Amino acid sequence: MTNETIECDLESYRTEELESLLKQLQPRILDYISKADPSRDEYQEDSLGRYHSPQFLKKEFTDDAKLQSGIRKHPQEVFEVIDKVLEYSMARAMKYPDTKIEGNNGRRFAIYSSKHCHYSVEKAAILLGLGSGSLFKVDILEDGTMDVASLKQAIKKSKLEGYIPLYVNATAGTTVFGSYDPFEEIAAVAKEHDLWFHIDGSWGGNVIFSPTHSAKLKGSELADSITVNPHKMLGVPTTCSFLLVPHVVDFQNAMSLSAPYLFHGRENELEENFDLADGTMGCGRRADSFKFYMAWIYFGQNGFAKRVDHAFDIAKSVGKP
Ligand SMILES: Cc1ncc(COP(=O)(O)O)c(C=O)c1O
Repeated sequence: MTNETIECDLESYRTEELESLLKQLQPRILDYISKADPSRDEYQEDSLGRYHSPQFLKKEFTDDAKLQSGIRKHPQEVFEVIDKVLEYSMARAMKYPDTKIEGNNGRRFAIYSSKHCHYSVEKAAILLGLGSGSLFKVDILEDGTMDVASLKQAIKKSKLEGYIPLYVNATAGTTVFGSYDPFEEIAAVAKEHDLWFHIDGSWGGNVIFSPTHSAKLKGSELADSITVNPHKMLGVPTTCSFLLVPHVVDFQNAMSLSAPYLFHGRENELEENFDLADGTMGCGRRADSFKFYMAWIYFGQNGFAKRVDHAFDIAKSVGKP
């Protein structure tokens, strides 16, 4: 280390600094990734990157000496539930802003999802105090997709039981069958009943990169929010997970609390917001988007498309596509 002073004016030169930082980091990170990639000539079995594989991280998280008991036992479940909690709390705060202050205030909210949805939907309902009884599980058709007639019946039933319909979760790529729910039909039902329409594209949302398979997401543009995990089908190291909403300001509206010692710089609607943490339930987090950006540069659009197409080719070779 030298004693050199880094001269900078953070406020004036933030964008320039980021650009120059990226330029300096890019070759190093690409080098780091190539050394961890068994398909490359540069691959080194004992490279540092190799230790950042999901298996290694899991080992770290489950190491008795390192973390406390709750997380130690179920590391994956903790990540899953955090994602879902963010979705619900957004849906609740956007549809019923007073819940930020009053809580549910005697309201009983109902959520709807197909019987083949991921179990984290139910866990998050428990964690948010809605209770697992607030999840109305909707029947599926033979191909594993949500039966929309059944969704309509579930909404009717829940209303008769005194619930307020809040949120419908559709899945793009169900965990077991890989089915894509009928998004356009579900969007119409959501509109009719003033439901927040979420798509869990944790797995199957990644098909957006494949010109051959992206049509499976038809109607996803009607969703209020979408989850997508590049750490699944795109092979970006865990965790790399996103909750997408139409505008970044939606996060602020749903989540922001005044914490001026930390968050600042957005005095009005027109100003860009650099304090993204203000719009989440967390505070300090890793920048998953940076990981995704680097992977995108490394594999490229076609590389991602090939990964997706390959996954579907494998599915064809073992059963129904
Ligand atoms: C459809 C679906 N949603 C959500 C999840 C949870 O994903 P993660 O915990 O990696 O965010 C899974 C995991 O398999 C899944 O298949």
